[in-house]
Amino acid sequence: MKLFLDSANIEEIKRANEFGIICGVTTNPSIIAKEGKDFKEMIQQMTQIIDSPSGEVKPTTEEAKDMIREGRSIASLHPNMVVKLPTTPEGLKACHVLSKEGIKTNLTLVFSVPQALLAARAGATYVSPFIGRIDDISMDGLQLIKDIAQIFKIYNLSTQIICASIRNAYHIIGCAKTGADIATVPYSIIEQMVKHPLTDKGLEKFKNDYIAVFGE
Ligand code: G3P
Repeated sequence: MKLFLDSANIEEIKRANEFGIICGVTTNPSIIAKEGKDFKEMIQQMTQIIDSPSGEVKPTTEEAKDMIREGRSIASLHPNMVVKLPTTPEGLKACHVLSKEGIKTNLTLVFSVPQALLAARAGATYVSPFIGRIDDISMDGLQLIKDIAQIFKIYNLSTQIICASIRNAYHIIGCAKTGADIATVPYSIIEQMVKHPLTDKGLEKFKNDYIAVFGE
């Protein structure tokens, strides 16, 4: 399973990229609003660090024709740009048109298997099921990933699954076990993933044992 960083914070993108573990970056309107920067400027900064950016059509854009126009403009910013569209009837129409033009699309805010199937049939390059937000309403987010992965496999659908709304390292294990293609992860979760108390304790002991014999 590949890892993307779910962030528009340039410092976080730089730090995660230094670990050599991320293959792409995802953003959404809330993440971009948090940074308070101009979208184009942010994409330019982002693509100086990582070669696989993503940009979402504005949440205020409701009709397919406007999503298509905006999607084309977002795609023109970088050759590897992925255009994120909402999983709505208008989003599906836009996905169908943009995909036929060779523009990579990511259908976001997926909360059910039927939505994922429709997105795949409309030609989406990626679907983004939101695990954490499903858990938030006392349902099983990982089960959704398992079901989508199983069905895409049965029908040999090439649409890739990006597990989104990841809230903890346990989500990462669950997603990887389903065979999902990608997990998009906030920087704080990458920090959680690398951390283990026994690693810290073990390193401390190595240090003390070494110093006791060899000094600094
Ligand atoms: O990028 C979409 C998704 O990862 C958002 O996560 O934590 O706001 O539900 P969250």
